Amino acid sequence: MSFDKPIADIIRQRSSCRTYLRKPVDSDTLARLTDSLTSTRVGPLGNRTRFELVFATEGDSKALRGLGAYGFIKGATAFIVGAIRQDEKALEDFGYLMEWMVLKATDLGLGTCWLGGAFTKSRFARKISLLEGEFVPAVASLGYRASNPRWVDGKIRDAARSDQRLPWEKLFFDGRFDTPLSEDVAGEYARALEMVRLGPSASNRQPWRIVREGAVWHFYLRRTPGYRTSNYARMLKMADLQRIDMGIAMCHFELMARESGSMGGWRVSDPGIPLPDELAEYSVSWVG
Ligand SMILES: Cc1cc2nc3c(=O)[nH]c(=O)nc-3n(C[C@H](O)[C@H](O)[C@H](O)COP(=O)(O)O)c2cc1C
Repeated sequence: MSFDKPIADIIRQRSSCRTYLRKPVDSDTLARLTDSLTSTRVGPLGNRTRFELVFATEGDSKALRGLGAYGFIKGATAFIVGAIRQDEKALEDFGYLMEWMVLKATDLGLGTCWLGGAFTKSRFARKISLLEGEFVPAVASLGYRASNPRWVDGKIRDAARSDQRLPWEKLFFDGRFDTPLSEDVAGEYARALEMVRLGPSASNRQPWRIVREGAVWHFYLRRTPGYRTSNYARMLKMADLQRIDMGIAMCHFELMARESGSMGGWRVSDPGIPLPDELAEYSVSWVG
């Protein structure tokens, strides 16, 4: 799946959109998006994912209300719904593939919002006709951005501090976790790292950490204490959203690295670098 604009521009352009125009997405744009949905089914770590575009036609607000995302999301004309099996690294592959589509939608001029908690899973599950063993970890709303977001959109952004990102020295390291990596030392990969830093994450917790070891970039998940085990997460039967965040980081890193000419690929092989604390765990490595 290719993009019309440079990937860095698309990543910078994307931000979560929670209020949409009530105008249906035009058929040409939908056709281009649907094409990309069917052409990206196996993730870089080997998991097969099914994606479908669920439409709401003009005046179909009841159908959207029925999908259970109505309070947070207003006026979305479609949702990307994905289903995956409970396998190793399945959530990382899901995050990677879904983010690829979110970026494609952004490239096509649409607004999007990842939804991992605030939606009724069973209703979306019915829409995609779940097969035995599959589940829906998250969905993304879609449509034309409204020019005036609602008051509540600002409140949601404030609560998650959505406009802020952690600085480089808290995210990227050279050889070991106690040595921050400067942009200069990152060299040709500096832009790929910056694209990871700008990525969306559940509640904007930014759990990705990356350690460089020569030409290999090791990705770690540093969990937010209590995030996965909170009553809220349990009540909503939320997927392990921070693993989806890792897949989103992989997507941003790879797209930028490839656009800059890197021929690398993904490998799961823990290098055994001492972890900073018990919240951190190894995830995956990019071999450049
Ligand atoms: C896996 C995932 C799940 C998310 N779930 C929700 C959600 O349920 N409701 C919501 O309003 N935003 C949700 N978001 C959006 C994040 O809050 C948002 O990406 C973050 O605050 C950064 O803001 P930005 O996307 O505008 O850059 C989710 C994002 C991700 C990556």
